[in-house]
Amino acid sequence: MEPYRPEHFAAVRAFARKLDNFFYLKLIIRAHAEGGLPGSCWVWREDGRIVAFSATAFLNKDDAWLWGMRVDPECQCHGVATAFTRAQFKLIRAAGRTWAGLNTLDSRKPKATFRVMEKLGFELEDIQCDDIYWRRPRGVVVPRPKPLPGITGRLIRLGLKTVFYDNDGWFNCRLLPARARWLNPFGRSIDGTPVAIMPRRTDSLSGKDHDMLSINVLERPDDLRAFVPRLLALVPKRGHIVVNYPSEWAKEFRSAARAAIPKLRRNHGCWQSTWRIYGKHL
Ligand SMILES: CC(C)(COP(=O)(O)OP(=O)(O)OC[C@H]1O[C@@H](n2cnc3c(N)ncnc32)[C@H](O)[C@@H]1OP(=O)(O)O)[C@@H](O)C(=O)NCCC(=O)NCCS
Repeated sequence: MEPYRPEHFAAVRAFARKLDNFFYLKLIIRAHAEGGLPGSCWVWREDGRIVAFSATAFLNKDDAWLWGMRVDPECQCHGVATAFTRAQFKLIRAAGRTWAGLNTLDSRKPKATFRVMEKLGFELEDIQCDDIYWRRPRGVVVPRPKPLPGITGRLIRLGLKTVFYDNDGWFNCRLLPARARWLNPFGRSIDGTPVAIMPRRTDSLSGKDHDMLSINVLERPDDLRAFVPRLLALVPKRGHIVVNYPSEWAKEFRSAARAAIPKLRRNHGCWQSTWRIYGKHL
């Protein structure tokens, strides 16, 4: 493993373009190289040739996040991702972090990533939906979320292990009492339901200037059908919201969203996805 340098880009692109979401990899490189996101990008060589890319982000003083792993299809299933991730553990530990997390799209079918997680001894911490919405329901009064103290303790008592981060890199960090100082100021109540609302002005990954809210809804609202339209009314005029909630509510939540916004479908007002969040204590 060696640190990624700009002159490695052509070699990384040569294989990463054959895999999904090459744009995301470019965003990751930009986030660390230009955006100042703490952490680093790495490459992995086999017989002198660069065959894999990955990055480590430091979210806070305890937690690290692994993202952007790509292995050249010609070299897959030879233990590269497993060895590469282990090599990152060493650096994460050396940097004083005691937990490494990552997310991957959930699926009913087995996936190579799930197997790699198993081999490395990761635990499946949570399965959560991260839905993006950029259309608002008509005729719904915009709620005025009220400050809600002590949200960290409430969520810990519910047994939640991770929380969606106030960064647009699609990270989760551990939900520890030590997170209270960061998380508590985001605590709000909407119609009696506790949520954490994290506002951002600029999308630091894409560089676009627009309004964005990351909303963690982790305590179940009494009536999702009534709650979801109210939540969607918070979509900013020029911007979007990312709503993070437990996957068990997916069907009900998304059907309430469709009922509130006519013709809502993938890439037409929303982009809905469900993620497995894995974590490992180092
Ligand atoms: C996921 C990925 C990084 C794994 O890289 P890799 O170097 O092949 O991983 P390893 O060789 O260390 O381990 C792969 C394991 O998955 C298994 N595997 C491969 N395809 C599988 C599938 N469809 N279902 C279940 N297991 C699978 C392999 O048999 C191997 O397990 P084994 O050692 O017990 O035989 C690689 O497939 C990749 O780059 N995928 C595209 C990008 C991606 O999905 N990145 C992850 C983002 S979270």
